[in-house]
Amino acid sequence: MKSITLLSLLPLVTAFNCTTPLFQSLLPPTATALLATPIPANATFTVPTSNIAYPTSPALQRSVCAVQINVTSSPTSAYSFGLFLPDDWNERFLAVGNGGFAGGVNWLDMAAGVGYGFATMSTDTGHNSNNSDGRWALNKEALTDWGYRAMHGSIVLAKEVVQGYYGSQSKYSYYSGCSTGGRQGLKEVEMFPEDFDGVLAGAPAWWTSHLQTWTVKVALYNLPTTSAHHIPPTLFPIVGAEVLRQCDAQDGLIDTIVSDPRGCEFIPEELLCKSAVANQTEAGCLTEPQIETLYKIFNDYVETNQTFVFPRLEPGSEAQWEVLLGAEQPNGLGIDYVRYFLLNQPDWNFYDFDYGIVQEADRVQPGNASAIDFDISPFHARGGKLLHYHGFADGLIPTGSSEYFYRQVMRALLPQGLELDSWYRFFLVPGMQHCQGTPSNVNAPWYFAGGNQAGDLGLRPGSVSGVPGFRDADHDALLALMRWTEEGQAPEYIIATKWHNDTLQDKVLRQRPLCPHPQRAQYTGYGDPNDAASWKCSAKGGLSAQLVG
Ligand SMILES: *[C@@H]1O[C@H](CO)[C@@H](O)[C@H](O)[C@H]1NC(C)=O
Ligand SMILES: *[C@@H]1O[C@H](CO)[C@@H](O)[C@H](O)[C@H]1NC(C)=O
Ligand SMILES: *[C@@H]1O[C@H](CO)[C@@H](O)[C@H](O)[C@H]1NC(C)=O
Ligand SMILES: *[C@@H]1O[C@H](CO)[C@@H](O)[C@H](O)[C@H]1NC(C)=O
Ligand SMILES: *[C@@H]1O[C@H](CO)[C@@H](O)[C@H](O)[C@H]1NC(C)=O
Ligand SMILES: *[C@@H]1O[C@H](CO)[C@@H](O)[C@H](O)[C@H]1NC(C)=O
Ligand SMILES: *[C@@H]1O[C@H](CO)[C@@H](O)[C@H](O)[C@H]1NC(C)=O
Ligand SMILES: *[C@@H]1O[C@H](CO)[C@@H](O)[C@H](O)[C@H]1NC(C)=O
Repeated sequence: MKSITLLSLLPLVTAFNCTTPLFQSLLPPTATALLATPIPANATFTVPTSNIAYPTSPALQRSVCAVQINVTSSPTSAYSFGLFLPDDWNERFLAVGNGGFAGGVNWLDMAAGVGYGFATMSTDTGHNSNNSDGRWALNKEALTDWGYRAMHGSIVLAKEVVQGYYGSQSKYSYYSGCSTGGRQGLKEVEMFPEDFDGVLAGAPAWWTSHLQTWTVKVALYNLPTTSAHHIPPTLFPIVGAEVLRQCDAQDGLIDTIVSDPRGCEFIPEELLCKSAVANQTEAGCLTEPQIETLYKIFNDYVETNQTFVFPRLEPGSEAQWEVLLGAEQPNGLGIDYVRYFLLNQPDWNFYDFDYGIVQEADRVQPGNASAIDFDISPFHARGGKLLHYHGFADGLIPTGSSEYFYRQVMRALLPQGLELDSWYRFFLVPGMQHCQGTPSNVNAPWYFAGGNQAGDLGLRPGSVSGVPGFRDADHDALLALMRWTEEGQAPEYIIATKWHNDTLQDKVLRQRPLCPHPQRAQYTGYGDPNDAASWKCSAKGGLSAQLVG
């Protein structure tokens, strides 16, 4: 861009006017510039102390102007958003998402965007809380902000600010988020298709009225902790090990990775204690009532007359069960949703849960948060690209909910004569947990620079962006989305990486392609299975796209 090239000849400090008066002059009367501070490259941005959900102060790889803007959204609500505006701008806009019920500007994920040169934005969604605390939702205006209003409003205003600051519009706009961040991306695609050219949506919490209520339901399978059917968290690893024992070989390779849990018929009875044992952890077995609980966890939530409510947790997700199944009561993501989002009854007893709660949630749709408008043809019509992924070892949001979303979109669009492949692709990630990470006994390649992932690498928060050592569109999902959007080259695969020590991004342990659904990665039978080139993406009928390089 011409003006940037000229400006870059000047000393960086005078290139841009990073002051609150400058930003205030770009804003409507409903908005206030709270902060505008130049941060030099490699310095740490100090997060304002009130941020409960995202307190980590990130290092920044480029010099930026760090900005925060407060926006009044109703007489009883306000949201704010943060912006990192790099001096060395790539002329593109990136918005990043949040997690759970977390309210706070996600400065850490924004820092990962700065590494690419994006003008990067995150909204606090209109409240300040950790990711499982929903008490703020008694204010229904705050709930609407969380549902979609803060994200959309922040995007619209941030784009204007970016234009005012640099003197030109962003050439392309992108989104990257996981979990609630995935939901926010899909919600944008559904309600405001003009906002983004490309959306990267991971493990989306899209079906809010069913996911949040299922969170209560699944916990109740394993409660109360004093009952005979309760599986204590100390036994979760025993279930996880048995899943690997039964299912690892099913994909043709014993490598600690279950490529497709659906292809394995897991037999829980193999875990039954052979006789009365004094210590189940030592014996590595489950009682008959505990096996019954396992059946509930591993089966879809279905109501009377086979009404499908929510998919099961996949075998292989056990290493994360502690979050939803390991406590004396259901997670706040379930209880607080019913208490504060839905019923406005802070003393609601979770043992009173029944299907009527789900039906009520469907009726009310608190904050209109659920991303359930499957006719996303307007996003296609504006040329949008959607890249969606979900880990198969996710213990917080069942993998099947993403597959269900994809199929609902098919149902809505195929009858209109619209295929999905040229603009919406969905990737399953064997062995990846919720948004990031892999169980220590699995070591699956999970890193591809998706939402929240970069924050997991590096000893210094914010110091990592993209895929260290593999900064290309074959290994980096955001770069793959950009190549698709800007050059029209759809991702035939994305190569995920696992290092020996992910924190340090030391020696690569394994790389493996992730394939667009419904293709699966298949070992070619030749070469090192830890090398991505030894794999190909294959459709069920045997059609295959041979990997290059
Ligand atoms: C920077 O902003 C201040 C306050 O709005 C203004 O007085 C000044 O002229 C601006 N400087 C430049 C170089 O734009
Ligand atoms: C960046 O900062 C870190 C910590 O202050 C320092 O160790 C490192 O040498 C710096 N790197 C560069 C390229 O300045
Ligand atoms: C943001 O604006 C609202 C008014 O809409 C105000 O109540 C709130 O204190 C402001 N937040 C900050 C951090 O200034
Ligand atoms: C979140 O906040 C609530 C309310 O303060 C607290 O009870 C809960 O323990 C917190 N959860 C986490 C994971 O910090
Ligand atoms: C059962 O065995 C495990 C593993 O050896 C041990 O950590 C635990 O304390 C034992 N539990 C009881 C109740 O003895
Ligand atoms: C289940 O189906 C039967 C037969 O169609 C119907 O009479 C009944 O009302 C249904 N029950 C529920 C809870 O939907
Ligand atoms: C709620 O969200 C859906 C998209 O998910 C949208 O189609 C609908 O218009 C929204 N309703 C309201 C009242 O905002
Ligand atoms: C990776 O390295 C870091 C820093 O040395 C260390 O704290 C961490 O425990 C290591 N992780 C593993 C899995 O070895």
